[in-house]
Amino acid sequence: MNRSDIQPAGGRIGVLTVGLGAVATTFIAGVEAVRRGVGEPIGSLTQLGHIRLGKRTENRNPTIQEFVPLAGLDQLVFGAWDPIPDNAYDAAVKAGVLEARHLDPVKDFLTAIEPMPAVFDRNYCRNIDGHNVKTGKNKRDLAEQLRADMRDFKARNHCDRMVVIWCGSTEVFLQPSEIHQSLAAFEAAMEKNDPQVAPSMLYAWAALSEGYPFANGAPGLTVDFPAMWELAREKRAPITGKDFKTGQTLMKTILAPGFKARMLGIDGWFSANILGNRDGLVLDDPDSFKTKEESKLSVLEYILQPELYPELYGNVYHKVRINYYPPRGDNKEGWDNIDIFGWLGYKMQIKVDFLCRDSILAAPIVLDLALFLDLAQRAGMHGIQEWLSFYWKSPMTAPMLYPEHDLFIQQMKLKNTLRYLMGEKEITHLGLDYYE
Ligand SMILES: NC(=O)c1ccc[n+]([C@@H]2O[C@H](COP(=O)([O-])OP(=O)(O)OC[C@H]3O[C@@H](n4cnc5c(N)ncnc54)[C@H](O)[C@@H]3O)[C@@H](O)[C@H]2O)c1
Repeated sequence: MNRSDIQPAGGRIGVLTVGLGAVATTFIAGVEAVRRGVGEPIGSLTQLGHIRLGKRTENRNPTIQEFVPLAGLDQLVFGAWDPIPDNAYDAAVKAGVLEARHLDPVKDFLTAIEPMPAVFDRNYCRNIDGHNVKTGKNKRDLAEQLRADMRDFKARNHCDRMVVIWCGSTEVFLQPSEIHQSLAAFEAAMEKNDPQVAPSMLYAWAALSEGYPFANGAPGLTVDFPAMWELAREKRAPITGKDFKTGQTLMKTILAPGFKARMLGIDGWFSANILGNRDGLVLDDPDSFKTKEESKLSVLEYILQPELYPELYGNVYHKVRINYYPPRGDNKEGWDNIDIFGWLGYKMQIKVDFLCRDSILAAPIVLDLALFLDLAQRAGMHGIQEWLSFYWKSPMTAPMLYPEHDLFIQQMKLKNTLRYLMGEKEITHLGLDYYE
């Protein structure tokens, strides 16, 4: 592969978020603040990252933006759906993430972003109640209405390309069933209003049917089952997910690889969170929490590989708790108590108290995903984009692979993919030749 195989990055890109809540408004307001020169895109690899090329002696460290043909921030146009009719400014004020000093300078811009009526069903998300909602004769009809929204948005805003990102609430836990196994079965189930078809799947189906890339920022099944993989392949659209890796899980995937690298054992890892935003309210419903819990629990299992290291990780007691506590708003607090052991089994403890701002960590992820998915599509990559695992709590992979959770392996995979796309040599960090 080399640069000439990738379509040029020019033109306008419509970025549609499903959900206009804390994450989506922090992302949109932040991009506009950066465009107007009143903020810095901290946390974004596409905006700030460098990449080493060639040997260390060559001193080639361009920015990622210089190296790969990414779209610029000025090319992005935003739209959203939400069952709650607040415009992006009102939604951002309610979310309480960004302060007036960042929202006021972009108020005109945010006020103009009104959410399109959503495909929403309280059976899948019980703690949200909104009336900006579509009606239709069945789920297929609702999904067709979403396709029409996407096409209209693209035409109205003179967009050349589109990306759709689920920033909506976490839906109740669903497991893959018969209807998820093929596109034909899934489409028949949409017609029949099958309860196994969640609203998020209708957005994913609509986006992919239009040939647009789709990312899933929540832990739901949404785009991660054979019918969607089939559709993505057929329409040559890239897909990626699941569940933005922010906060406590980000810390876990930074710390756990370190313990494992040093062959330190772990007896237990207890994680407690208090958060008071709308996401916390949704996760107060045990069925939505179950979806989140599955996503958070699997991380350690894959990083620590207890089957290879039974003496170190064969008996890890891992518990995750999320508690809705309104006074904190979006400013979550996450405690980790980690019981580890070293030489001859001597016990030690590590306590992490992360006073974190979840949406501040999520917003740059949404930006990077929009730009990288657009790049992937221009480079002819479609289906599951495993190289974007870096951004996810539960990375999607081909069915025969286990997901890679170690943040540093994920970063190497991402950067090597960029090198590969641009016809540069991948970096192995071997380095023996310097000493020959
Ligand atoms: N905040 C983070 O850092 C973070 C990290 C990882 C994952 N997530 C996930 O991202 C999602 C968004 O988080 P948030 O903090 O912005 O939550 P939020 O509650 O502030 O926003 C979610 C929005 O989605 C809307 N929504 C729900 N169902 C919808 C549907 N069917 N169609 C359109 N809109 C719908 C809700 O009305 C709400 O406005 C959640 O699923 C959350 O679990 C967030």
